[in-house]
Amino acid sequence: MKLIKFKTYAEMSEYGAKIVQKTVKEKPKCVLGLATGSTPLGLYENLIKKYNNNCIYFGDVKTINLDEYYGIDGKHDQSYRYYMNKNFFDKIGILYANTFVPNGMAENIEKECKEYEDRIDEIGIDLQILGIGNNGHIGFNEPCNHFPSKTHLVDLSESTIRANSRFFANLSDVPTKAITMGIGSIMKAKKIILLATGKKKEIIEKAMYGDVTPEVPASILQFHPNVTVLICEEM
Ligand code: GLP
Repeated sequence: MKLIKFKTYAEMSEYGAKIVQKTVKEKPKCVLGLATGSTPLGLYENLIKKYNNNCIYFGDVKTINLDEYYGIDGKHDQSYRYYMNKNFFDKIGILYANTFVPNGMAENIEKECKEYEDRIDEIGIDLQILGIGNNGHIGFNEPCNHFPSKTHLVDLSESTIRANSRFFANLSDVPTKAITMGIGSIMKAKKIILLATGKKKEIIEKAMYGDVTPEVPASILQFHPNVTVLICEEM
């Protein structure tokens, strides 16, 4: 795993956006694995700027997101589909049909998860962007006693529910389950960049240099051949 440190959030976001830009330039029909949360917002803003300056073209790009809350639909303002449309897809001229986010309202969850995993295998992820939860989760793969291999429905941990409650009016409004790519799904990506702000320093150190254990889901990335961790001192 390669670690690159930045002083500011702005510098980290700009660097992350350059990696995405390079990927799209080298392979216009590439597949980007995307993440939500507050950390990648600056990267998306940079990419929108590049798009507005005609420096990047998303017309042939496909995207596939890590996860989605279970039990809320894409129009809910806290759903990850809503987040992606509002913060990125609506502003980069991408075809919505080329953007994939799990359907949190799917009636048959098993089928939804299987089809999502099949899609990952079919299109393949060239570059996966990751954030990290306070407890080391990636996507919504929470600490547990094994590394889940495929897209699945997960019970969110109490600490994640609490952390994510900052976006909801009440703690009781936060979904308690989510559909997430598995650790195995994430590990299939050819290249991974993980972005983290200063407040995640401790968990990043554990993930990068500690034991590889499902208690720290991101630690599995030590076994991936092409991971770059971008961290900034700020926040
Ligand atoms: C959620 C998402 C993760 C994200 C994490 C951290 O739990 N499912 O993909 O990495 O939040 O979010 P933030 O970047 O806001 O700290």
